[in-house]
Amino acid sequence: MPTLRAPAQEETGIKWIENAPLDGLNSMGLRATARLLASVASEKDLLRFLEWAKETGEKFVVLGGGTNVILGDPMLDFAILRLDGDFAKYVLEGNKITAGAAVPLARLAQEAVKAALTGLEEASYIPGTLGGALAGNAGTPQWQISDNVKWVEALDRKGQRRRFAAPEITFEYRRSTLAGWVITRACLALKTDRPENIAQRLEAAKVRRIGQPRGARSAGCIFKNPPGDTAGRLIDAAGLKGLRRGDAVVSRHHANFIVNEGNATGPEVIELIAEVRRRVLEQFNVSLETEVQILRSTT
Ligand code: EPU
Repeated sequence: MPTLRAPAQEETGIKWIENAPLDGLNSMGLRATARLLASVASEKDLLRFLEWAKETGEKFVVLGGGTNVILGDPMLDFAILRLDGDFAKYVLEGNKITAGAAVPLARLAQEAVKAALTGLEEASYIPGTLGGALAGNAGTPQWQISDNVKWVEALDRKGQRRRFAAPEITFEYRRSTLAGWVITRACLALKTDRPENIAQRLEAAKVRRIGQPRGARSAGCIFKNPPGDTAGRLIDAAGLKGLRRGDAVVSRHHANFIVNEGNATGPEVIELIAEVRRRVLEQFNVSLETEVQILRSTT
C-alpha cells in the first residue's frame, strides 16, 4: 500500500496527522485509523488542501460530526478532511442564520429558539454538523433541512467556489446534489413566532424521540424508510431486535438503530446490516436501502 504523505505542517497551516485514530470522531465509537487526517480552519487552508489532493491524486472524504457514518474498515486508505476554526462560526441576523459547515445543527436550533425564531425545532435532536445535514438532507418525517435553506456555499474538488441558491439544489429524502462538494457555509431562513408556540413544537419533537436509544453509541437510523412503511417497523416485525454480530446489536429500543455495545468493528456492523436486509427481504419482500454513509477502504 503506498504511503499517504502529508506535507510539512508549517508549509500549509493545515493540521495533518498520519495514521490518525478516528474512534472519537464517530458517534458509533468504531475503531478505525485514517492514513491521513487533515483539519483546515479557513477557506485558504481548504484551498491548499484541495491543491494537495489534486497534485497527489489522493482520494479524500469529508467527515462532519461523524454521526451518520459507519467506518467500515479498521484501516481507511484515504485521507479524511475535517473543517474547524472559521467553519465553526455562525451569525444570526434578523431571521437568518449564516453558519459554517462545522457548526453543530443542534446549536443552530438552540440559537433560533433563543431568538424566538421558528423553523429548526425538529433539528434540536439531530446530531451532526450543518454540512453533514445539508449533504444528506437530514430531517424527520415532519421537517427536513432543505425547508430552511436560502443558499449554500461549497467548493468543488478543484477548489472552485460556488454559491447555490436553494432552487439550484435538488433535495430528496436523505439525499442532495451537494454530496460530493465540500460544503463550507450556508444561510438558513427562519420565521419569527411566539415563544410558547416554539416551545410546544420543541416538546413535540422531543416526544417523538422517546422510543430511540439514548446514550447508546449509534449512527442514528441505519435504513431509509421504504415508501409507505418504516424500516423500524419491518425490522421489528421480522423479530430482529437484539440480533448481533460481535458487539454490534440491533437496538432493542428502536429496530432501525444498530448500537455498539462494546468493541464492535466496522466489518461486524456491515455484516449485521446485510443480515437485516436479507431477512427483511425474505420475510416482507422489501429491499431496505441504507441511509448511513459507509466508508470502506478501496484496496
Ligand atoms: N416501530 C416499530 N418498532 C421499532 C421502531 C419503530 O414498530 O423498533 C414503528 C413505530 O411504532 C412507528 C413506526 O415504526 O409506528 C415509525 O417509527 P418512528 O416514529 O420511531 O419513526 P421512524 O420513521 O423510525 C423517523 C426518522 C428518524 C427521526 C424520527 C423522528 C427515518 C429513517 N427515520 O424515524 O430519523 O428521528 O422519524 O420522528 O426517516 C435518522 O435519520 O437517523 C433518524 C433517526
